[in-house]
Amino acid sequence: MEDCLGRTASLEELHHEVESLFLREFGCKPDSVVYAPGRVNIIGEHTDYNDGFVLPMALPLVTMMAGKRIESNVVNVVTGGKDVTTRLTPGSPKDICVSFPVPDPKQERRDGAQRIPDVEWANYVKGVLVNYKRLCGAFNSAIVSTVPLGGGLSSSAALEVATYTLLEQLFPIDHPVTPVEKALACQEAEHVYANVPCGIMDQFVSVMATENHLLCIDCESMRVTQVPFQNPHVVVLITNSNVRHNLGSSEYPVRRQQCEAASKAMGKRSLRLCTLEDLEAAGIEDETIKRRAHHVISENARVQQAIESLKTTDYYRLGALMNESHASLREDFAVSCPEIDLLVDIAQRQPGVYGSRITGGGFGGCTVTLVKRSHVDDLMKAIYDGYASPERRPNFYVCNASGGAAVFNTGT
Ligand code: GLA
Repeated sequence: MEDCLGRTASLEELHHEVESLFLREFGCKPDSVVYAPGRVNIIGEHTDYNDGFVLPMALPLVTMMAGKRIESNVVNVVTGGKDVTTRLTPGSPKDICVSFPVPDPKQERRDGAQRIPDVEWANYVKGVLVNYKRLCGAFNSAIVSTVPLGGGLSSSAALEVATYTLLEQLFPIDHPVTPVEKALACQEAEHVYANVPCGIMDQFVSVMATENHLLCIDCESMRVTQVPFQNPHVVVLITNSNVRHNLGSSEYPVRRQQCEAASKAMGKRSLRLCTLEDLEAAGIEDETIKRRAHHVISENARVQQAIESLKTTDYYRLGALMNESHASLREDFAVSCPEIDLLVDIAQRQPGVYGSRITGGGFGGCTVTLVKRSHVDDLMKAIYDGYASPERRPNFYVCNASGGAAVFNTGT
């Protein structure tokens, strides 16, 4: 079971790895090294695109990028890494280098027709270049990451935000953009170049998180509040189911449409503005639409209660809300799956566990569990025993709330 415990490489280790990769590929040292974190959402799922509330935290799992400007009209990006990283191109044991012409934002189409074929991850880099505040020139870059791919921990937002942070170093802007503008530019890159109509949560937290805090985002006003979240006796355990059902990408836009249909039926701009009383009064006949709305409206209320519970460090209350959130996502929003339900079910029955739920977009990926530090080893063992089989094994990450994107400075 020991090898299921994901080791969170230190920034120094990653720095060493990304510099070596850069040197190997481009024959010199980079000028700048930056990183951006993945995230886990504690509560507030599928509420961001309904103008609601979310409460994620940034992870010590990050994507790191090294870069240097060059005299050319081509961007060269290499990804690889040896020991401590997740590969951006799954299954490939080799370093992979992608080159593409420096994009001209005026020539790029809003439908993302100029996507780079075959190498999915390179589109996130290109998409950010197109949405960067000023015209970029050519550069070389190396990427390593410890954020598991497709695990619902926002590996894509980490790559987008790392790219933007690198561009800020290589092609500085006279009047730097605000953190909100930066996050929105990265979200736009994902909409157009990955064709995922995501909300704002992942990019906001990757840009704006601070250590030892959850980030409460009001997705209507786009105002963020840092919520203190630090206790030496309590930890967040992430369990990666290592399953991902294809349904995820097709069902996400469907959920968005169902939510829009529900708010329209209630005559409101978004579900954020609706109450459970409105839902009852609207007499929506389509049971599916009604359930989707019920999840979002009740989940927004749970986020508010979670923030209250944290003011008095009432982890039992917070855990109960997480359990309720899972039930609502499973029953009303229908974005869970048997593997995730099993992980949550095992966790919720273990001593020392406050609460456990699915996290992220759904249909596989990870669960998030709030647990007493003294019980986390026994918890991992119980999950492993109940979940692992010849076909599947879980991965574990014991995490603290980390900071947002930053420049890596040696010796700091
Ligand atoms: C994905 C999206 C987010 C959010 C979550 C669900 O992670 O990228 O914007 O909608 O799903 O809460």
